[in-house]
Amino acid sequence: MSLRQVAGPPFAKVLAKARAELQTAGSVFAYNQPGKNRALAALAAPPFVSLRFPVTERLFMMARSRRFVLRNLPFSTRLAIAAFLSCAGVGYFSALVQLHFQHATPGTLLPTEEDTAGAYYGRTGMSQFERLLVTDSGKPFNGSGSMRQAFSTKAAGWKSSINKRAKEQKISLRQAEERLRSERDGERLAVLEWARHGADRKAFEDNNYVLSPTLSKHPITEEFLETAPDGTTRAKISSIVESRCTRCHGRGTSGQAAQFPLETWEQVHEYCEIETTEGGMSLKKLAQSTHVHLIGFAMLYGLTGVLITLTSYPGWLRTVLGPFTLLAQVVDIGFWWLGRLDPAYARFIVISGGAVAMGLFLQITLSLFDLFGKTGKIILLLLALTLSLAGYEAKTRIIDPYLAKEALSATVTE
Ligand code: HEC
Repeated sequence: MSLRQVAGPPFAKVLAKARAELQTAGSVFAYNQPGKNRALAALAAPPFVSLRFPVTERLFMMARSRRFVLRNLPFSTRLAIAAFLSCAGVGYFSALVQLHFQHATPGTLLPTEEDTAGAYYGRTGMSQFERLLVTDSGKPFNGSGSMRQAFSTKAAGWKSSINKRAKEQKISLRQAEERLRSERDGERLAVLEWARHGADRKAFEDNNYVLSPTLSKHPITEEFLETAPDGTTRAKISSIVESRCTRCHGRGTSGQAAQFPLETWEQVHEYCEIETTEGGMSLKKLAQSTHVHLIGFAMLYGLTGVLITLTSYPGWLRTVLGPFTLLAQVVDIGFWWLGRLDPAYARFIVISGGAVAMGLFLQITLSLFDLFGKTGKIILLLLALTLSLAGYEAKTRIIDPYLAKEALSATVTE
């Protein structure tokens, strides 16, 4: 590496002069060139330090001032920065854990699009009856979760029905379960359709609800169907409710659900009234959350952003990553407000939130890695390896079983 390459063409003249000066002084000139952008470092060994001439001094300063990088800071300062970055990483991780407990469906790691829509917009326009029949069956089996399981795993003799079906039709258990599920889902859709079309009393009590042409094509358990003389398909809604619900929701039964009987049209109808939006985020809460995130997190992302710009990575990477997390945060918060108005934006909240997390992760890990020399890098790599191994172990041994248990215990048994 020649002097000219190190300092660049504008310094050519200065360099020539410097060389002349040094030659006259007969001194030893040491160039330390640790990185591409880092120019001349210290001049020579201690005995010659006093031999700095005006021009070499200037050259030295110019080379130094080309760009400041964290790597040039004293070791203690770099150690403090490394501690700060690690702390920010752990802090962000605990924020994710909190997010799990606050908004995620039991059994999932982080909130889904649906959870997000529920948190910002709320769940709307449905009666409790409808909600309980459309909510994902992974939700708790109770009045605020889902009753969908009543058609399958919580139905009387679910397992034996599968076995029977498999034997009768000479198919595998899996195929039998699939077919059975599809028919049971047809029952659910029929009840849902009846409820959505006004939960008509006569259709319920006469056990004679006219299915829509689309639904008539769906597999539905035969015993609940009837073809009327006019060719329409009729579903026996009250028979379905009796088979799938009153087993628990009947006065003669024991258990909590017996307090909420579903034996007559009146009792069922009570749950069919449309609820107004529930949940969702109040303006006050959203305003508060916006201000906390913009002020508090802006400080953090600002610092990590500035730090990444002072690394020795290529300019484009520093330029992109520096402001990235801050900007993603602003976009994310923008989507929170839109998401409160329209649940369709929930998807963008999930994406922009992920972008914030990724930005911070890159800023932290890349900056950490750039702070130290070879030994430091090796130590960091070993640490990262240990952490990922520990993380993998934690995931398989603790987190996954925990999530499975969480999903299970959320499913209240009778
Ligand atoms: C295996 C038993 C079981 C079956 C079958 C069942 N449920 Fe439930 N249901 C429950 C339990 C337990 C609760 C929670 C009761 C509580 O909050 O104490 C509940 C709650 C409800 C509630 C809320 C009651 C309230 O006022 O809080 C409704 C509505 C409901 N079920 C509808 C249905 C419908 C419709 C079906 C049939 C498709 C059904 N359930 C089948 C056990 C059952």
